[in-house]
Amino acid sequence: MKRNDREDTIVAGLDIGSTKISVVIGQPREGGIDVIGVGTAPSHGLRKGVVVNIDSTTDSIRKAVEEAELMAGTKIESIWVGVAGAHIRSFDSKGMVAIKNKEVQESDVQRVIEAAQAVAVPADRDVIHVIPRDFKIDDQEGISDPIGMSGIRLEASVHIVTGGHTAIQNIIKCTNKAGLKIKGLALEQLASALAVLSQDEKDLGVALVDIGGGTSDVIIYINGGVVYTSVLPLGGVHVTNDVAVGLRTPHSSAENLKCEYGCAMSSLVDSSESIEVEGVGGRQSRTVMRQYLCEVIEPRAEEILNFINTEIHKSGLTDFLGSGVVLTGGGSQLDGLIEMGEFLLDMPVRKAVPNQIGGLRDAVQTPAFSTSIGLLLYGQTHMKKSKTTVSGLRWMEKIKKAFVDAF
Ligand SMILES: Nc1ncnc2c1ncn2[C@@H]1O[C@H](COP(=O)(O)OP(=O)(O)OP(=O)(O)O)[C@@H](O)[C@H]1O
Ligand SMILES: [Mg+2]
Repeated sequence: MKRNDREDTIVAGLDIGSTKISVVIGQPREGGIDVIGVGTAPSHGLRKGVVVNIDSTTDSIRKAVEEAELMAGTKIESIWVGVAGAHIRSFDSKGMVAIKNKEVQESDVQRVIEAAQAVAVPADRDVIHVIPRDFKIDDQEGISDPIGMSGIRLEASVHIVTGGHTAIQNIIKCTNKAGLKIKGLALEQLASALAVLSQDEKDLGVALVDIGGGTSDVIIYINGGVVYTSVLPLGGVHVTNDVAVGLRTPHSSAENLKCEYGCAMSSLVDSSESIEVEGVGGRQSRTVMRQYLCEVIEPRAEEILNFINTEIHKSGLTDFLGSGVVLTGGGSQLDGLIEMGEFLLDMPVRKAVPNQIGGLRDAVQTPAFSTSIGLLLYGQTHMKKSKTTVSGLRWMEKIKKAFVDAF
């Protein structure tokens, strides 16, 4: 395998999840991107989306990278990395500047966004994204692209996403230790949104929830722009733990039972169906009604959806979600979750897999790959902006000043 030969023309994304670490390599083409390599490795070094074991996480990254490189037939040197976890905080901010030459130019937009991010961010937090929501020129509100417009005063509303400094440093450290430079970081639910949401959904208003293993990551779009992000500390792992305890079975068997026979609504399964449940510590396996498994799962599924409901209400945006709720992430694959979601959230709910991709699409067309595919798309969009690859602290300093996203 040659190193470097395609480095300038390929994009790679790294999703450091709570249950699996995945690497996807893509080859941009006219109007889209082709997946050319995919690698995954189980993840054991994370808790609630935060790295707690550097060596184990680094090993898994290395394995996933090797697998993806082998499939793609090329080495990668740098990668776009997802950030998630309970340490993420976000808030809105505003900035205002005088328009220099009576007509808005790119430099005015840069200045107003800088003014909007000139807020006190605590020393233990790093800015990950500054996402412009909309602009106002003099008294005219709701402008999405102000360049070329005339006026005297330019105002910007932005959504700022920050992460804990230590948590981000640990992500950087693991990636670098695995032999990769970082092209940039992206909030995981922002990446997932790029992979699964349509422009119509974003325009009409939509809440996307990526239900992973350890966390469920929320992002809300109104009028095409990001207005709210948050991370809920619940995911599929909690459902598996309940099954392990409730059915007194090893964790691995609980995971299989959940994925194969689980359902969020016990009333939806055949009441005469039975399943074989492995015993713990060499005990004999038992036969249990499938409905019982689902009765164990049901309260946790309800809790996850209630958390999502509370979060949407907390955002104050419930009435603006014309496109309802979109669920993705491995945890969204639980049978019956969509039906339960429509009932509890009282709005349309759909399950989404990554779209807009070509190449080895079969390997990644599952909700668990939304984040990694989204990282590819994010990388493709930002490729031109980041021709120079920087890593570690130097990179962190750069994004503090200039990491501005236009979504
Ligand atoms: N068919 C299925 N039915 C129910 N749950 C499933 C199914 N397939 C996968 N899952 C669950 O999805 C979860 C993993 O999802 P995903 O791969 O998106 O998480 P992750 O990215 O590793 O974690 P996180 O995003 O929280 O850091 C696991 O808890 C797994 O049990
Ligand atoms: Mg995930």
